Amino acid sequence: MTIRNFSEDTLTAEVLRRIEGTPNARLKEVMTSLVKHLHAFVREVRPTPEEWFTGIKFLTDTGHWCDDKRQEYILMSDTLGVSMLVDFIHYGNDTNATESTVLGPFFVEGAPEMPLGANIARPGTPGEPCYVSGTVSGLDGKPVAGALLDIWEAGGDGYYDVQKPEGTNLRARFRAGADGKFHFRCVRPSSYPVPHDGPVGRMLAATGRHPMRPGHLHFMLQAPGYDKLWTHLFVRGDEFLDSDAVFGVKDSLVIDFRRNGSGVYEASYDFVLKPSSAIRQK
Ligand code: BEZ
Ligand code: FE
Repeated sequence: MTIRNFSEDTLTAEVLRRIEGTPNARLKEVMTSLVKHLHAFVREVRPTPEEWFTGIKFLTDTGHWCDDKRQEYILMSDTLGVSMLVDFIHYGNDTNATESTVLGPFFVEGAPEMPLGANIARPGTPGEPCYVSGTVSGLDGKPVAGALLDIWEAGGDGYYDVQKPEGTNLRARFRAGADGKFHFRCVRPSSYPVPHDGPVGRMLAATGRHPMRPGHLHFMLQAPGYDKLWTHLFVRGDEFLDSDAVFGVKDSLVIDFRRNGSGVYEASYDFVLKPSSAIRQK
């Protein structure tokens, strides 16, 4: 039997037939779904060859913008809501544990470990002084002694350290005390635009969207026996809470940053970690 002379009606089935023998079951599931959805997309949109090539050029350009400091594909996934969709599906909010949100492209492995109470902002960093404290506990309410907290944020000028030539700033790793408590100094988070000088910025502009994120502090929390949590604390009252460019805002993560008598903003949050999935599934 010759298998040729395909038409718009028969081609999809033949592509699917050819990947039926994929040995890895999960890869087969992923590829089958990808082919079905891609073909359905093309049937619906009916792009001209020039339009299809414009799409390919856009993806090529997106790749060219990626290096060890800039991840344009993460940004694309974030701004199209896909990162948060994966987060909802994978992490869920079926318990009283602290909710997660998007990791973003500015986490750096190996930030300097600082003693509790240290200021993660070097002298001269733009922004208003801020003091953040809180606790880390498990679902049972017991403190998670020695939990590791990675914290990172943009300065008052809206830039992360990795976007400037200045070296490490506004990021650190802390270890909660035996009572699960932590505290540190930083600058009050300000709203800022996601990088929008590349292909994703063009996509946002072309679709009438702004690139702004509401002010937030990033946290990554980990401790043996608990699931790793990456999340943010957002500033209540920020004008971009309802139009975050990456769809990451959850009410439970929006907190007050109140100015005290000395002009320092203060905020506090009690994090609750889930027991590790491996333990839960037993
Ligand atoms: C961030 O908050 O750092 C971020 C998240 C997603 C995309 C760009 C930036
Ligand atoms: Fe951020």
